[in-house]
Amino acid sequence: NWTMEAFKDKEIMRIRKLVGEKGQVIGAVSGGVDSTVAAKLMHEAIGDRFHAVMVDNGVLRKDEAKQVKKTLTEGLGVNLTVVDASKRFLSLLKGVSDPEKKRKIIGNTFIEIFEEEAKKIAKEAENTPKAGKVEYFLQGTLYPDVIESISFKGPSVTIKTHHNVGGLPEKMNLKLIEPLRELFKDEVRKMGVDLGIPAHLVGRHPFPGPGLAIRIIGDVTPEKIRIVQEADLIFIEEIRKAGLYDEISQAFAALMAGRSVGVVGDNRLHGYIIALRAVVTTDFMTADAYEFDSAFRKRVAGRIGNEVQGVVRVLYEETSKPPSTIEFE
Ligand code: XMP
Repeated sequence: NWTMEAFKDKEIMRIRKLVGEKGQVIGAVSGGVDSTVAAKLMHEAIGDRFHAVMVDNGVLRKDEAKQVKKTLTEGLGVNLTVVDASKRFLSLLKGVSDPEKKRKIIGNTFIEIFEEEAKKIAKEAENTPKAGKVEYFLQGTLYPDVIESISFKGPSVTIKTHHNVGGLPEKMNLKLIEPLRELFKDEVRKMGVDLGIPAHLVGRHPFPGPGLAIRIIGDVTPEKIRIVQEADLIFIEEIRKAGLYDEISQAFAALMAGRSVGVVGDNRLHGYIIALRAVVTTDFMTADAYEFDSAFRKRVAGRIGNEVQGVVRVLYEETSKPPSTIEFE
């Protein structure tokens, strides 16, 4: 008689046994559902001997690092270090417009920074009385990831590699611990609820590892990041207000290449173009555009045009996947 509650308790016992009385674990968190549930589970099992690290890569959504810090530390009691590496990422991304190059830069730099931070944490942690070595690396792998990495040799292998920081544990000589590897997404959400994680977090849309860098066509600049962040915030806020968030699988704003002419006050402005995309999907391999009513669309386009400085045009992108992808790059 399988229940989530029993599975959770069994998993906590298994972690305790595996890690031992003194063993310590390190893991990356993003603020997404999987890493948050995995982190909270580790915290329940071994308390502060689990060390969570979040890397702010400068291409997160507005105030995301601050909010994750607040939720995980104050809300869930998880022992978390946030590393602000945004300057380092942005200087490496400067002038780069090739999507795969952007992904590589972000993936590799993430690994470098995580490794540096992990070494510091391990050194400090091992000096605390009654605590042992940092021997394990937490990975929030789900059952579909396990299947997919075995059976699917397409572009999504690279996606998973970035997402799950593949190669890092071996490089750092750490053993893997994967408490979610038998679960599907809906089961992870259920476990999140059982662990006391707030509903708005458990139901969050996915966000890609390379972040806003793959939602800005062409090169990434601080101004473009600000524009996508502000537009995205308005779009999501209106979606939540209209009660549509849970019907939609993923929704976001992206910044198009090139400029277009608009009028601001008495002047013509050569400004930016924002595209809004909202999709419905079960597996993210295929997806359909979500259909908003026209009042909603006009309201959101109007708000973004008026409130986000530099934007002169707002478009809706409604191509299904395939032939499109969900992200723009
Ligand atoms: P696409 O754009 O391939 O997206 O239709 C499918 C799902 O994967 C996410 N995605 C990524 N996630 N690193 C990630 O961690 C990536 O490079 C990446 N590219 C796409 C996307 O947000 C969607 O949920």
